[in-house]
Amino acid sequence: MAKDIDWDARYAADPALWGEQPNQFVRARVADAEPGRAVDLACGNGRNAVWLARRGWHVEAVDISSVAIEQAQQRSERAGVHVDWEVGDVLAWTPAEPLDLVLIVYLHMEMPELTGVIARAATWLRPGGRLLYVGHSRTNLTRGVGGPSNPEVLAEIADLAGAAEGLRVLALQHLLRETEAGTAVDILLEVTTWDGPEPTGNPDPGHLKPPAP
Ligand SMILES: C[S@@+](CC[C@H](N)C(=O)[O-])C[C@H]1O[C@@H](n2cnc3c(N)ncnc32)[C@H](O)[C@@H]1O
Repeated sequence: MAKDIDWDARYAADPALWGEQPNQFVRARVADAEPGRAVDLACGNGRNAVWLARRGWHVEAVDISSVAIEQAQQRSERAGVHVDWEVGDVLAWTPAEPLDLVLIVYLHMEMPELTGVIARAATWLRPGGRLLYVGHSRTNLTRGVGGPSNPEVLAEIADLAGAAEGLRVLALQHLLRETEAGTAVDILLEVTTWDGPEPTGNPDPGHLKPPAP
């Protein structure tokens, strides 16, 4: 998303911006994983981080919007779980310890910055840890609904392939997401390190269908 978005104002105006539920593709990819240490980069007001914490993960979650982090704190209190929330910039923030999981969900920045964030975050993984990026794709501009209208902040397959250089790619694909306004075209990258155990519980594409209403 463009640098000119006033995220504090957006969250203050609508705390229910992204809903209560975790992103459906995160849920499909992570639900079967053994809990460990996770970071949710650009966590917003915490729907994915709280979902992870409820499943037993130790979660650090970072966002540039202090209003979002305040709302996220309230969300984790309501859920009765602990998350280490932090106001921070993904371009500079680093975790204290190696990680089993990095989530980056609907973070949109101009391409060299976004791919740089993904590549840098992948260096934080323990052997066998996984990084998951989910975003609106550039293809969404012509084939889908919603999301940013600036093509420069929307990733395509080649951009994410570049970010994954040197990593083991588990998934790199477009995914269709049904919304009230129509079908959105998302993009997903999942990577792991080359030195970990053989990944298990890697769902087949059938698992990525939206849950039945
Ligand atoms: C579309 S929201 C997605 C929030 C969350 N990941 C989710 O899926 O619910 C994008 C988020 O990126 C955050 N963001 C944008 N630029 C950032 C930066 N440089 N550092 C940290 N967070 C940033 C915004 O504050 C916003 O919460």
